[in-house]
Amino acid sequence: MIHRPRRLRVNPVVRDMVAEVRFHNDMLIYPYFVEKGKNIVSPISSMPGINHFSPDTLLKDVEKGLKKGIKKVLLFGSGEEKSESGRSAYAKDTVVAHAVKLLKKNFKDDLYVITDVCLCAYTSHGHCGIIQDGLVHNDLSVASIAKMALTHAEAGADMVAPSDMMDGRVGAIRATLDEAGLDITAIMSYSVKFASAYYGPFREAAGSAPQYGDRKSYQMDFRNPNEAMKEAWLDEGEGADVLMVKPALAYMDIITRLRAETHLPIACYNVSGEYSMVKAAAAKKWIDEKSIVMENMHAFARAGAGLIITYHARDIVEKGW
Ligand code: PBG
Ligand code: ZN
Repeated sequence: MIHRPRRLRVNPVVRDMVAEVRFHNDMLIYPYFVEKGKNIVSPISSMPGINHFSPDTLLKDVEKGLKKGIKKVLLFGSGEEKSESGRSAYAKDTVVAHAVKLLKKNFKDDLYVITDVCLCAYTSHGHCGIIQDGLVHNDLSVASIAKMALTHAEAGADMVAPSDMMDGRVGAIRATLDEAGLDITAIMSYSVKFASAYYGPFREAAGSAPQYGDRKSYQMDFRNPNEAMKEAWLDEGEGADVLMVKPALAYMDIITRLRAETHLPIACYNVSGEYSMVKAAAAKKWIDEKSIVMENMHAFARAGAGLIITYHARDIVEKGW
């Protein structure tokens, strides 16, 4: 026999030597749920290990994570007043704006702060935009979403991440930020965001479930890989700095194909449902959590993602996985 692939698998040193993909903690972005109030650390039952924090407790938790190497966080706000238009999303004094200021004041450039930009946690109907004649109105929604991005950027966010899936929002946000002199604030676009049942636990956490209907008139149909490339290409043209694919595990083909089609960094979002399934099976001892999580992280890297947004990040760095 000429070829014996097992030669290069005989021990850990040689296996490390020929490893083709390397995962690093620097790839991780950790999501946080920030709520109005003080001294709040309230567990989210559908996402074991994940909590709601108020800005004061958030500060302490971020400090703990930073010591272990969590240098990038993604903030989601909740608990603001809900209305038909979702106007509380772009008020100057939102809990997200407050949290951004607090974090940047304390950690300066040691911490990279990203904010999620979307109306669904602020609208009474729970949709990601403004409703007119029974449909989420694209251009009206984009105007509010751009204002929301501006309040986050003015508060000091390093990067804003629109997750609404309205057409043209990246371009509108870019123009709004540039006009305000915030040309250095980056945009990570949820470019390829599919209408997915994997968001279930998150919607409970963020209080952002649609009160009627679904998100299929704005989020993507999971049958459409070509359209996914089109969405990413549009966002790139409108000035996105980073493109995201979401969810991650069921969409590896999209990550790999996008990697071949763009020169931008690609992030994948290992979403709440993916996280909670691992946690639930691990709690029952049906799987080994550490092994499964690290297999998934390497799979994201192998598929072509350079950045991984995941609720597992804290376990990975703290437990030294
Ligand atoms: C809201 C938003 C969602 C997620 C991030 N931003 C849910 C949705 O679109 O319904 C999902 C995150 C997760 O499931 O972890 N626009
Ligand atoms: Zn939304």
